[in-house]
Amino acid sequence: MSSKEKAVLVTGGAGYIGSHMVLTLLEAGYAVVVLDNLANASQESLRRVAKLAGTAPEFVEGDIRDRQCLDALFAQYAISHVLHFAGLKAVGESVAEPLRYYENNVFGTLTLCQAMATAGVYRLVFSSSATVYGNGQPLPIHEGLPTGRPTNPYGTSKLMVENMLQDLARADERWSIALLRYFNPVGAHASGRIGEDPNGKPNNLVPFIAQVAVGRREALSVFGNDYPTPDGTGVRDYIHVLDLVEGHLAAMNVLVSRSGASVWNLGTGRGYSVLDMVQAFEHASGQPVPYRVEPRREGDIAECWADPARAYQELGWQASRGLDDMLADTWRWQLANPEGYAGPNKPAH
Ligand code: NAD
Ligand code: UD1
Repeated sequence: MSSKEKAVLVTGGAGYIGSHMVLTLLEAGYAVVVLDNLANASQESLRRVAKLAGTAPEFVEGDIRDRQCLDALFAQYAISHVLHFAGLKAVGESVAEPLRYYENNVFGTLTLCQAMATAGVYRLVFSSSATVYGNGQPLPIHEGLPTGRPTNPYGTSKLMVENMLQDLARADERWSIALLRYFNPVGAHASGRIGEDPNGKPNNLVPFIAQVAVGRREALSVFGNDYPTPDGTGVRDYIHVLDLVEGHLAAMNVLVSRSGASVWNLGTGRGYSVLDMVQAFEHASGQPVPYRVEPRREGDIAECWADPARAYQELGWQASRGLDDMLADTWRWQLANPEGYAGPNKPAH
């Protein structure tokens, strides 16, 4: 990449969502720089992205908390937008180690913004979460609702960053910031070459079901069947990771002619229960997914789905992939990579 060519910086670009973002950007013709400390990722994801795209992103192994590293990166590349995925995301871990979460997610984002301002880069897309709405919101959840009280430090770190970025955009009109509240991202690229590679036992539903279906785990624990929902199990708005990253492309384009901080939900507007997901996964994979009902998981809410109308009106974006696509793509990835990026498909380097 020539030093004058405008590029998009993707922090956390080697991770699950970031790697799909990088592929989509490269396919759309953008020059891409990835910054990742590989805390929860393997560079193998980016090797595969490069093969799929026929062109590679620049890769900087570094940390968003490292100001010197950021200054050197902004001096080397002409960055037009920053898509900021880097952060820690394990809810249980955040309860055990809150300071590590606040340092990575809040201090890391603060340091990134300081480096951006020094470099004169003011367009930022932040990976937020529906968790900032807290419990007890009327459904569907729209952006006009006040934020709530997240039930864990991970969620609080997302809300703290949102508040910080809102203050920043109010203080200096050069900033143009998208706060994208993700509902439940699932799925993988249709090639089966990149996907979600959780560390150890998955916390989230779909990676867990996929590992049961492939025979890596014995049975799914269904966390509660006594919720006030049609079948008693929790209902969520699952969104295909490629729809999600396309929402980022749309937000990037709109930021060019917008100032301030804007909030958009990225969801489908449809909810599915845990048992719906089990059944749909059995259908997609042709494999049985045995499960047993266990007590509720602390901090879980009964139901949550998005009102995606604002993103449609203002970004011209809406999710187009249905549950069958999400789960067929998850299954293809799981089947081809039963051990994730560490498996036998990993080339020797
Ligand atoms: P991920 O863990 O796969 O990706 C995060 C990436 O950031 C990893 O590659 C990791 O190595 C990197 N990273 C972590 N700390 C870093 C640091 N200090 N400096 C540089 N790199 C660092 O997670 P993901 O699922 O791809 O999530 C991406 C973003 O979206 C995160 O901010 C997450 O909180 C947010 N989000 C995810 C979900 C979800 O369900 N996956 C839902 C809502 C929001
Ligand atoms: C969780 C996090 C949320 C985070 C999101 C994405 C909690 C309380 N919330 O959301 O902050 O932004 O992941 O990383 O952890 N389920 C089971 N068995 C399982 C796993 C999940 O029954 O083994 C159920 C859950 O009770 C829930 C649904 O499946 O009803 C979805 O769970 P999950 O995939 O973990 O997502 P969220 O809880 O919505």
